[in-house]
Amino acid sequence: MTGSDVRARNEALLRWYRTNKRDLPWRDIGDPYSTLVSEIMLQQTQVDRVIPRYESFMARFPSVHDLARAHRIDVLEEWSGLGYNARAVRLHEAAAIVSRSGWPEDLTTLPGVGPYTAAAIGSMAMGRAEPAVDTNLRRVISRWLGAPLEGRALTEAAQSVVGEPAGDWNQALMDLGSSLCTTKHPACDECPVTDFCADPTVYSSPRPQARFAGSRRELRGALVRAHVRGADLRDAGMEMGRTADEVDRAIADLSAEGLLPA
Ligand code: ADE
Repeated sequence: MTGSDVRARNEALLRWYRTNKRDLPWRDIGDPYSTLVSEIMLQQTQVDRVIPRYESFMARFPSVHDLARAHRIDVLEEWSGLGYNARAVRLHEAAAIVSRSGWPEDLTTLPGVGPYTAAAIGSMAMGRAEPAVDTNLRRVISRWLGAPLEGRALTEAAQSVVGEPAGDWNQALMDLGSSLCTTKHPACDECPVTDFCADPTVYSSPRPQARFAGSRRELRGALVRAHVRGADLRDAGMEMGRTADEVDRAIADLSAEGLLPA
């Protein structure tokens, strides 16, 4: 595929996004704090459930300084019902750091911020040309390029095709991946970039499940090994093709059982 095809694909994608994008309260704000809050909530909870909780959280803690000043108990109270309270604790800690010292150049140094969230904030609120690599993006890019991509190859492929502005491009891929380019039944006849897609059947069948492959036990074992080698647990789980929800649930269970630090 030539550079001009990559450009034409991104233009078609962004044109589609402008007329079809979901109207979500954290979109088009361009502020790192609101992006951090929404992305942390969206890591573990569906979009529809996040919307009212995001609005309520932002009304109560409108700026990173308001959140930093708040008592932990009030942050947890505002978070209640979203689940995985450790995320609220990390968000509160991150707010304290940012309120004191500003946003660090490397956002992954903030508690609770892994490579995906860092790229989401960087692209949506800091003008950085970074692809936010999650399972949706992995499926769409793999189809564009015609091969199931993982890990470093996936990140490099995404970096070589990311469009501008990258915040819109990332969110266009999120919307495309959740509406048309779905795992099981991609709607290629409605897709704005079907002419630039190598193979929509990539990732279209459920991953093969042996008794162990794809099991909860396999995921738990991999997470404990990732912890031992000091790797990011969410990245390790996502690289296995698991959803953020599955990974977060397994991490929470392992922490509760004392197999991972709380
Ligand atoms: N999931 C994670 N981040 C999102 C965003 N910015 N918009 C829609 N869905 C998302």
